[in-house]
Amino acid sequence: MPADRSLPIGVFDSGVGGLTVVRGLMERLPLENIVYFGDTARVPYGIKSVATIGQFTGQITDFLMARGVKMLIVACNTMAAVAGDVVRKQAGEVPVLDVIEAGAQAAVAGSRGRAIGVIGTPTTINSNAYARRMHALDPGVRVYSQACPLFVPLVEEGWLDHPVTRMTALEYLKPVLAEQVDSLVLGCTHYPLLKPLLMDVAGREVRLVDSATTVAEQAAQTLARLNLANPGEQHATVQYCVTDIPLRFQTIGERFLGRSLGQIERVVW
Ligand code: DGL
Repeated sequence: MPADRSLPIGVFDSGVGGLTVVRGLMERLPLENIVYFGDTARVPYGIKSVATIGQFTGQITDFLMARGVKMLIVACNTMAAVAGDVVRKQAGEVPVLDVIEAGAQAAVAGSRGRAIGVIGTPTTINSNAYARRMHALDPGVRVYSQACPLFVPLVEEGWLDHPVTRMTALEYLKPVLAEQVDSLVLGCTHYPLLKPLLMDVAGREVRLVDSATTVAEQAAQTLARLNLANPGEQHATVQYCVTDIPLRFQTIGERFLGRSLGQIERVVW
């Protein structure tokens, strides 16, 4: 039976960061309803083991499938890197998109020099998921990866244009930039907020690949191809679900989303 086209798109992340993807979706697909899940009680995922992340990801997928969604988007790079197969297995017929597939495709398609840098959490970088995917798309591409664990807390602190963040970025990017990369993949939900600073540090000639906007574009194409776009014309709704009390999510989330969040539901497993 074809899916109900008015069902929401399920978007999930370890916490607040996936709101960069929601923002991209709201701009690209304003008529689509969204249910967002942020596992705020267990964030951060980026320093956790593959087994733990796999287990948490399975629980979140089950939750969203039970709610009823027509598509799932793994907004968290860390989950996409190590647990994408868990999501696809549990999602069955429901199409699954993720930021790593979208980011890797956009990076390879737009790289003229075929030298690409990737930055992300330690778990994402250690998994080598971006490099593997990019090599599958273009075996000749050279990929240089760098974990940037301090970026997540700096962004959550709101230090988007702060001397400490600038010094940290210079230190992290030094080895990657030394390889003359022409593109830099922002392989973590939080990094799009650092775009102006990273552009400064990397230089204007380095193209920044934002997985959040590229996955929104893929979502639009996939909904059109599968005839799943919402036919309604009324204002779309976004339902936010989190696993801890919503206060911090609400405050930081407004910065990520660029607008106020509205109703937030606390999920108790
Ligand atoms: N959402 C994570 C990611 O994109 C960053 C935050 C975390 O470590 O949980 O990798």
